[in-house]
Amino acid sequence: MNIGLIKESGIERRVALLPEVVAALVKLNVPVMVEKDAGERSFASNEEYRAAGATIHSKQEVFNGSGMIVKINPPTVEELGWMKPGQIFLGVLNPLVDHETVKKLAAADVTGFSLDIIPRTSRAQAMDILSSMATVNGYKAVLTAANTLPKFFPMFMTAAGTITPAKVLILGAGVAGLQSLATSRKLGGVVEVFDVRAAVKEEVMGLGGKFIDVEGARDEKSAGGYAVEQTEEFKNRQAQAIHDHAVKSDVIICTAQIPGKKAPLLLKKETVEAMKPGSVIIDIAASSGGNCELTKDGETVFIHGITIIGNSFLAIDMPYDASKMFGKNVFNFLKLMISPTEGFRINWEDDIVKGTCVTHNKEIINERVKALIQH
Ligand code: NAI
Repeated sequence: MNIGLIKESGIERRVALLPEVVAALVKLNVPVMVEKDAGERSFASNEEYRAAGATIHSKQEVFNGSGMIVKINPPTVEELGWMKPGQIFLGVLNPLVDHETVKKLAAADVTGFSLDIIPRTSRAQAMDILSSMATVNGYKAVLTAANTLPKFFPMFMTAAGTITPAKVLILGAGVAGLQSLATSRKLGGVVEVFDVRAAVKEEVMGLGGKFIDVEGARDEKSAGGYAVEQTEEFKNRQAQAIHDHAVKSDVIICTAQIPGKKAPLLLKKETVEAMKPGSVIIDIAASSGGNCELTKDGETVFIHGITIIGNSFLAIDMPYDASKMFGKNVFNFLKLMISPTEGFRINWEDDIVKGTCVTHNKEIINERVKALIQH
């Protein structure tokens, strides 16, 4: 079966597979068709794809000739029209939120795999695109903040006097938050971190951050390591604690999210208004509503001397390494379905393969997605 690599559209600069991953697939006897200029915005040329063993085609030729389409973003309306019954789509469908695309894929009899719902088990770590992109987002968030802040991050003792280090507050200590912490520390910032999961306290301290304790958080083991919604009483106590720390901060990085739900609102308007002028808020939870009340998704807002950048897609601005990580995750996932003797086969007995599939045989087969859509 051929794999078809599609060029992304719009503001997207990443590509799902760089030539090095294409070469690894070709070595496993999987032919790869690449849409012309697919890697252009990630600095991978058609010649490099050819040298890796791929063939270069028009978009329509790739759709016609491939058993599996690989792309980062969901298929566009035009692309959906080109998909054939029984064809496979592998990418990021955001199926907990974007129900329309899921329904369309099922209706078109496309087998849709969505890497953002891959089970979060130890074995799946090497295929976890959410972790990869959160790593890039967390890193880029700090660099963006440092670039916008009218101050230094590190402490300096100079002949012109002492510069105090930037105070950074990180909301949410998942993969992105921890990467923001590590990057802020490397730049010399003093970092405080808040999360409802007490389990991350040690990791925060290990990376040189101070963990802000707020008692009484609901931290459910059944949520598989994810956060759950909190009680009103806890939210009020948390809002006060965040307010007290936020008004002393120069930079706030917002990363708190709850899968499939609106992001928790942690920074109220009054808190932002009480912050020091010149401070910067980077809200990478913006696409799911944001952690800051004043965040506008995809926009930069200036208010009371504070800059609020709402951007959940900072990884797009680091297309080479973001594509490299994404492609390696895709390759590790595909390896679960490629056997040296049988070639490509959807291995339904594998819990990772099954758990990542959203649509098959005209049905929505992922229980979580199905429940949300029927609701
Ligand atoms: P996420 O992007 O869903 O959320 C980011 C952070 O926000 C989380 O730490 C969460 O606890 C926090 N948060 C949610 N509501 C909050 C609130 N009201 N106040 C403060 N903080 C709040 O998280 P991410 O990065 O996807 O990681 C979630 C979990 O999954 C972690 O335990 C992580 O270690 C685990 N994980 C497991 C993987 C695997 O085993 N394959 C791969 C990646 C992550």
